[in-house]
Amino acid sequence: MGARVSQLEAENAALMQQLEAARETLGALVVGGDEQEGGGEGERRRRRREKIDRSYFQSYSGFGIHREMLADNARTCSYRTGLEGSPALLRGSAVLDVGCGTGVLSLFAARAGARKVYAVDGSAEIAEVARDNVERNGFAGAVEVIQGRMEGVSLPEKVDVIVSEWMGYCLLYESMLQSVLHARDRFLKPGGAVLPDIATMWVAGIAPEALGLNFWRDVHGLDMSAVAEREERRSRGTSRVASVKPGDVVTTSQRFLRLDLCTCTEADLSFTADFDLTCPSRHRPVACSGLALWFDTEFSARFCGQPVNLTTSPFAQETHWVQTLLFLNETVFLQGEGAKAGTGKPAVSGGAGFLGSTHRPAQGLRGSLQVTQGKQDHRALEVILQYAPYSGEERGPTGVVRYEV
Ligand SMILES: C[S@@+](CC[C@H](N)C(=O)[O-])C[C@H]1O[C@@H](n2cnc3c(N)ncnc32)[C@H](O)[C@@H]1O
Repeated sequence: MGARVSQLEAENAALMQQLEAARETLGALVVGGDEQEGGGEGERRRRRREKIDRSYFQSYSGFGIHREMLADNARTCSYRTGLEGSPALLRGSAVLDVGCGTGVLSLFAARAGARKVYAVDGSAEIAEVARDNVERNGFAGAVEVIQGRMEGVSLPEKVDVIVSEWMGYCLLYESMLQSVLHARDRFLKPGGAVLPDIATMWVAGIAPEALGLNFWRDVHGLDMSAVAEREERRSRGTSRVASVKPGDVVTTSQRFLRLDLCTCTEADLSFTADFDLTCPSRHRPVACSGLALWFDTEFSARFCGQPVNLTTSPFAQETHWVQTLLFLNETVFLQGEGAKAGTGKPAVSGGAGFLGSTHRPAQGLRGSLQVTQGKQDHRALEVILQYAPYSGEERGPTGVVRYEV
């Protein structure tokens, strides 16, 4: 049922986009296009951003997406504990909920004793829903729903607490954090709390099986591994959002970004970070065909009575964010330090003798991740991955891949 609802919503969103595109084309035909409207490159960029934002807010007008978020227990319980477990912070406070959706976080804040909650959402339909939810739960006196984009809203007072669930896939997808930082700089009292207050990003190497290739090895008793081989080849250099099983993580995990949401700036959201992942398997080489990225957000003891960490790690309860997978240009073979190079049983036959090949597994994978906002779509992400297998001082061939996430 949930999958059907999501599918219908995806179809609806696609139809809305087509309608939007048709409207734009028609508009351009009638007035003679961008140039005759007096638009230069800057104007075109502005209109493109507006169009993307319209379909972004439209995507939050459906109910399936809100149901999916509310039903994600790891997510919703973390916010509930962060807010309702902090009565000393919330009692008598003024709170701003950036992107209130159904109003769930505003209602948690009100239940925790907030004097006033400003619940802001840019999606007209969902703001109306939030208003009804607030009323039916008896908090119309405490929670004020404001329909509008955060950047254009004004408030009658500064607030003690800002709460927001702004995280997208790979943490920064959707670029909603920028709106939260903007609100923080305009409306938070000095020393006020941002909930959650810490965000971190993590990386680890994954086996090709993370693609779910085992499915093809036995389909009703038939060997369809020919599909698995093609699927693995097709995945090279691509990215996807998918759930990784703990057993498919083949290297150490490493934190590569930490943001303090009380002090970070928009500039911190574009960054380059190094990683160095080693292989715990000493007995046999393991195949590493990509990296999994995930994030944590923390309601830390700095503000919260019951600190809680909302993690999207493959080693924890699955969330609707699952993980973001970046596949390398080729599979790299790794074997932990202490193993004699070349003594492991080759995982596949053949292979050249370079470091990281099946006959010469490397001890680890080193590289960097450069993350920036998408150039065409400011709500998307561009990730450039550089990587090279290594053993001690020796380095294998370097790979570079650019992904649009
Ligand atoms: C991820 S949802 C979270 C909804 C709700 N807070 C919850 O936890 O279930 C993000 C919401 O923020 C809204 N939003 C995103 N950017 C916004 C902005 N700049 N101004 C106002 N609302 C925004 C979206 O319309 C969407 O409803």
